[in-house]
Amino acid sequence: MKDKIEQIIQDTSAILIKNNAQLEEFRIKYLGTKGVLKDMFDAFKLVPNENKKEYGQLLNVLKSHVEYIFSTNKEALEVSAENSVVDFDVTMPGTPLELGARHPISIIKNEMIEIFARIGFAVAEGPEIEDDWHNFTALNTPEDHPARDMQDTFYINENTLLRTHTSPVQIRLMENEAPPIRVITPGRVYRNETISARAHCTFHQVEGLYINENVSFADLKQTLLYFAKEMFGQNVEIRLRPSFFPFTEPSAELDITCFICDRKGCPVCKGSGWVEIGGCGMVDPAVLQNCKIDDQKYTGFAFGMGIERIALLKYGIDDIRLFYENDVRFLKQFGS
Ligand code: DAH
Repeated sequence: MKDKIEQIIQDTSAILIKNNAQLEEFRIKYLGTKGVLKDMFDAFKLVPNENKKEYGQLLNVLKSHVEYIFSTNKEALEVSAENSVVDFDVTMPGTPLELGARHPISIIKNEMIEIFARIGFAVAEGPEIEDDWHNFTALNTPEDHPARDMQDTFYINENTLLRTHTSPVQIRLMENEAPPIRVITPGRVYRNETISARAHCTFHQVEGLYINENVSFADLKQTLLYFAKEMFGQNVEIRLRPSFFPFTEPSAELDITCFICDRKGCPVCKGSGWVEIGGCGMVDPAVLQNCKIDDQKYTGFAFGMGIERIALLKYGIDDIRLFYENDVRFLKQFGS
C-alpha cells in the first residue's frame, strides 16, 4: 500500500493539465466517487489494526496532495482564461477625468488670507467645539447676554458648545502668545437659526486681531479700507457705524459701498447704497486682562467678517443655502 501511495504521488505530480477537459478527467480519475482515492480508502479498511495509524497518515498526505494539484491547476486555468479575453478596444481614447472646482467659500477664504498676508497677518485656527470661557466669558460677554441663550447657541452640555463666532480664537491666541500678535482666523461657526435664504445654522467667519503697543482706531480703519479695496475694487469706500460688542470698546459695524448698484440703491443694499460686512472695534481692556496681557502697555483692534456674506455680495448670489447643497452645477461656476 505504501508503494502504491508513493506511485500515485509521483504520477499526479508529473501530470500536465492544459485545459478544462483534462482537469475534469483528472478530477474523475483521482477524486471521483469511483476514483483512485476512493479505492485507496476502501483498501484502507482491510489494513490490520497495528498498521492503521501509519497508513492513515500516509493516506491523508496523499489526499491533500491530490487536492492541491487539482486546485492549483484549476486556478491557473481560470487566470489564463481571464487574461486571454480582450473585450475592449485598446485604441479607443480614454474618458477625460472630470476636474472639480474649488468651493466659492474656499475661494473667498483664500483670497482673504492672501490679502491680509500682504500686510503681515498670519493665519491661525481654533476648535469648533468650544467651552464657555473662550466663547463667552473671556470675551466679556455677561451671563445674561442673549447670545448665551439656548435659542441662539448649540450647547453640547452646560459648559461645552459649538462656537457661535471665531472670536474665541482671539482668546486662545492671547492666552498663549505674547504681543505683538497679528493674525486672522478663518473658520466655521454655528448658530441655532432658522434656515432661510439669508441665514443658516452654520456659516464661516474670518476674525482679525492685532495687538501691539500704540495700536489705534485709525490703524483699524486703514486696515479695513485696504481690505475692502483689495477685495471689492479700488472704488469701494467704507463706513464705520457705532455699535456694541461686549469684547470691543468702542465698537463699530463695517459697511462698504454697494458696488452692485454703485451706491444708487438696489435690493441688495435695500436702497441705502451701503452693505454691512462685519463688526469691529478696539479690544476691550477687560479682554486683555482676561488673557493676562498688560492693558496699560498694549492696545489692539479686532474684527469679524462673514465669508458667506462677502461671497454673496461678490458673486451676486441671493440664497445662502446654495453654498451647502453640493449642487455641482452651482459649484462649478466660480472657477479657481
Ligand atoms: N464676533 C462677532 C459676531 O460674530 C463679530 C465681531 C465683532 C468680531 C467685533 C470682532 C469684533 O472681532 O471686534 O457677530
